[in-house]
Amino acid sequence: MKPVVISTWKHGVDANKAAYDILKNGGNSLDAVESGVKIAEDDPEVLSVGYGGLPDADGRVTLDAAIMDWKARVGSVICVENIKNPISLARLILENTEHMVLAGDGAYDYALKNGFKPESLMTENSLKRYKEWKASDSSKPEEIHTDDFVLAKKKDINADGNHDTIGMVAVDKSGKVSASCTTSGMAWKLHGRVGDSPIVGAGLYVDGEVGGAASTGRGEECIRACGSFLIVEMMRMGLSPKEACRAAVERVVKLNLLSSKNRDHLFQVGFIALNNKGEYGAFSVRSGFQYAVYSGGKNILYDSEYLIDEEYIIEDL
Ligand code: GLY
Repeated sequence: MKPVVISTWKHGVDANKAAYDILKNGGNSLDAVESGVKIAEDDPEVLSVGYGGLPDADGRVTLDAAIMDWKARVGSVICVENIKNPISLARLILENTEHMVLAGDGAYDYALKNGFKPESLMTENSLKRYKEWKASDSSKPEEIHTDDFVLAKKKDINADGNHDTIGMVAVDKSGKVSASCTTSGMAWKLHGRVGDSPIVGAGLYVDGEVGGAASTGRGEECIRACGSFLIVEMMRMGLSPKEACRAAVERVVKLNLLSSKNRDHLFQVGFIALNNKGEYGAFSVRSGFQYAVYSGGKNILYDSEYLIDEEYIIEDL
């Protein structure tokens, strides 16, 4: 059934509405996935995307975003500051340049030259949270990104249900698939850290002959597994979107165990996938991941199936 749009987390519900409005009127999936995730970028209540996203360890809000279409056209921005809609900047790179990725000051300068207005992305709430973190023990450099951090983040996920990156995949009436992904990344990250979201093959991937995928959660673990590319390739080999997402989650966990540096059984990664027939699925490492699907006129938030129970001892895997 087409059109269909799928996106990550509770904030995907409103994002899906904007995307589906375009799709139901015969619009294309590229326009849909750009307009959809802009809703989360503009929302100050979403603490991990765009305006109001939590800053890095230096108190700077740095954004990553990427967009990809059925013709394998890509636009991506990395670590860009003071631009509220990095997904539209990524789209501009896709449309107007011979490049795929612009980073940091270069991305910012390109935005200003093309009519984007600089604005502070810090809100009263994100500043307050940053100050609280700065005053806490966990802001000591050696403590950043430890289990404590992940536990705190996990609590946030469970408390407000709308935490983390928004990834979106859409198929339009004519069967063309596009994907987008946008994030402020891991809160309190080292300045300059880049996650999976702007990296093609990790945070998102589309092959027009097959479908697309996108991810959320701890970007380092998704990058290691080339998660979204893996899902699309497995769908090409005949797996359903959910089976492909599950296989990618298994790979993520396997590689996490292998790379002892980041062994951490509390991390979360979630994947969504959609093929060009309109079939969709999702899967995550742990419980708590939700995804929203707009299909057949209904926009529904689902709890994802997951691999590892809370009590699971990872060493037994
Ligand atoms: N998944 C977003 C990030 O890790 O930056």
